[in-house]
Amino acid sequence: MGSSNSLILTLFLILVSNSRADTSQSIQEKFYTCISLNSELSVPFSTAFYAPDNASYSPILESSAMNLRYLMPSVQKPQLIFNPLTENHVQTVVQCVKEVGIQLRVRSGGHDYEGLSYMSQMEQPFLLVDLSRLRNVHVDIQDNSAWVQAGATVGEFYYRISQKSKNHGFPAGLCTSLGIGGHITGGAYGSMMRKYGLGADNVVDARIVDSSGRILDRKSMGEDLFWAIRGGGGASFGIILAWKFQLVPVPETVTVFTVSKTLEQGSTKILYRWQQVVDKLDEDLFIRVIISKADGAQKGEQTVQNSYQGLFLGRTDRLLGIMNESFPELGLTQKDCTEMSWIQSVMYIGSYPLNTPPEVLLQGKALYKNYFKAKSDFIKEPIPETGIEGLWKSFLEEESPLMIWTPYGGMMSNISESEIPFPHRKGVIFMIQYVTTWIDNKTESVTKHMDWMRDLYKYMAPYVSMSPREAYVNYRDLDLGMNKNGTRFSEASLWGTKYFKDNFNRLVKVKTKVDPDNFFRHEQSIPPLRSCRIRKEGRD
Ligand SMILES: Cc1cc2nc3c(=O)[nH]c(=O)nc-3n(C[C@H](O)[C@H](O)[C@H](O)COP(=O)(O)OP(=O)(O)OC[C@H]3O[C@@H](n4cnc5c(N)ncnc54)[C@H](O)[C@@H]3O)c2cc1C
Ligand SMILES: *[C@@H]1O[C@H](CO)[C@@H](O)[C@H](O)[C@H]1NC(C)=O
Ligand SMILES: *[C@@H]1O[C@H](CO)[C@@H](O)[C@H](O)[C@H]1NC(C)=O
Ligand SMILES: *[C@@H]1O[C@H](CO)[C@@H](O)[C@H](O)[C@H]1NC(C)=O
Ligand SMILES: *[C@@H]1O[C@H](CO)[C@@H](O)[C@H](O)[C@H]1NC(C)=O
Ligand SMILES: *[C@@H]1O[C@H](CO)[C@@H](O)[C@H](O)[C@H]1NC(C)=O
Repeated sequence: MGSSNSLILTLFLILVSNSRADTSQSIQEKFYTCISLNSELSVPFSTAFYAPDNASYSPILESSAMNLRYLMPSVQKPQLIFNPLTENHVQTVVQCVKEVGIQLRVRSGGHDYEGLSYMSQMEQPFLLVDLSRLRNVHVDIQDNSAWVQAGATVGEFYYRISQKSKNHGFPAGLCTSLGIGGHITGGAYGSMMRKYGLGADNVVDARIVDSSGRILDRKSMGEDLFWAIRGGGGASFGIILAWKFQLVPVPETVTVFTVSKTLEQGSTKILYRWQQVVDKLDEDLFIRVIISKADGAQKGEQTVQNSYQGLFLGRTDRLLGIMNESFPELGLTQKDCTEMSWIQSVMYIGSYPLNTPPEVLLQGKALYKNYFKAKSDFIKEPIPETGIEGLWKSFLEEESPLMIWTPYGGMMSNISESEIPFPHRKGVIFMIQYVTTWIDNKTESVTKHMDWMRDLYKYMAPYVSMSPREAYVNYRDLDLGMNKNGTRFSEASLWGTKYFKDNFNRLVKVKTKVDPDNFFRHEQSIPPLRSCRIRKEGRD
């Protein structure tokens, strides 16, 4: 370690030992000492560590935390935030977290639905490793591939591709602020999934730090672990430093559209029809439905609005032919359609105002944040109109409800359930995501909206996949592991089979092999065999 760094370290230790000597301080102290002893490289303490009394601590903690529910005062915050600047810093921090014996949380883009990347209901104290400064994107068009560091957002990645080629793209998430680090670990679907599958289906290599602090790539980690990290959920097997992807071809011109229908405009019948055709449509066509509440025709009246948002990998004339043949009930016309480049379609679907320059993607910022609760379901038989009508009734009772119905079929049905841990493939017509959002921080609001969501989920049971009732791991839902009496984190297989079906067993085997001591753990991490028992923990 260089002398200027030792000086900074000494100053730090003096600062630390001069302050209150409670346990949290001594943990920081132990931590700093470990880092300075273990690292042959200089970890810059003065720019990489943030303790709670530091003015930058809260802005950094809050920077990418998407669910405000997990920033409320009652939620336990990290004892220390670490912002690694190099891959080696991540190795060192793993070694020291182990030595000091605290828990670790890792965050890339902060979009976890249950805040698992920046809070812990399990154990205190814990350290947050925030990868936001590891965000290089290297696109190699010749090789049709890219290496992307974990802290980069998908929007930055898409932008970097578009700067090098108009004919290449990548089939991951629609929301541009998603962190590539966490996103890919759960599957990563987007508007090209019907043609190219998930982001995780297009991974060709990865660099991870394992529980011993080693950096491994595909070759050195072996095919079992490489299988597990592509869809087995975040933070169970190691810290992803970077992913290597194979790019996919996109046409120079694509077409987008949004067509909205309210109840008064016959939305129920059209949505019923959508369910019958959407998974069988041409693979170049993706039509999702965004369902929200809207003002009705009469003043003071409310209605349910279904917005059909489409991406077609081709030009308008061919699209109109396909629609006329397969889904004329929507009544799509030329004037609903706009032709644009693929990167512009990314902006359009990402809800940026028209003509926003794509460079805004480099900021990697979310467009909005709120308090929310969400859940997911997979649908294998069309929901009858009476079932849909019951949904509308529930919708009209909630303040800001939202549903997104995402079509499957195409390439999604061609990949086997066990190819990667993400198992929701053939037979799925579409996925539903239910969301409720609110903007005030009252504890009563949390209870009210969570109750509404849980009732809706109960209502939907007869219409969705059964045995197991499948769920998308990237739509993390801590209710899934809850017993009827409210105790949480019971049998891991409860949520494990919902997220992964039979792949759960193989994930447990891999976990037992690569992390038998359960170093990488959180409320829904894959358990190693030995600790796969009932864990009693209270509800928050
Ligand atoms: C507004 C919004 C829109 C979304 N849209 C989509 C979508 O279009 N398609 C889709 O598939 N999903 C979507 N999601 C879900 C999203 O894929 C998941 O929330 C995903 O886990 C986010 O990754 P992240 O890095 O941003 O989150 P984080 O909160 O940073 O991480 C998520 C999980 O992965 C772990 N993790 C993070 N980084 C690493 C790492 N480097 N190595 C190992 N583990 C890590 C975390 O500890 C945590 O458990 C959306 C979520 C939100 C909030
Ligand atoms: C806060 O932490 C940063 C990064 O470690 C450091 O540069 C800064 O000096 C700290 N500020 C105070 C007041 O301790
Ligand atoms: C809500 O926010 C206010 C103002 O920031 C704060 O004083 C209060 O403690 C918060 N309440 C809860 C329950 O988070
Ligand atoms: C739509 O299809 C019908 C018959 O299937 C055909 O007669 C009509 O010309 C088509 N219209 C368009 C715009 O393609
Ligand atoms: C999926 O498989 C079917 C049948 O083999 C094939 O016709 C179709 O083109 C495949 N789809 C994709 C996107 O590869
Ligand atoms: C709750 O139920 C689980 C089994 O479903 C049981 O193991 C546990 O002891 C119960 N807890 C309480 C507090 O009753």
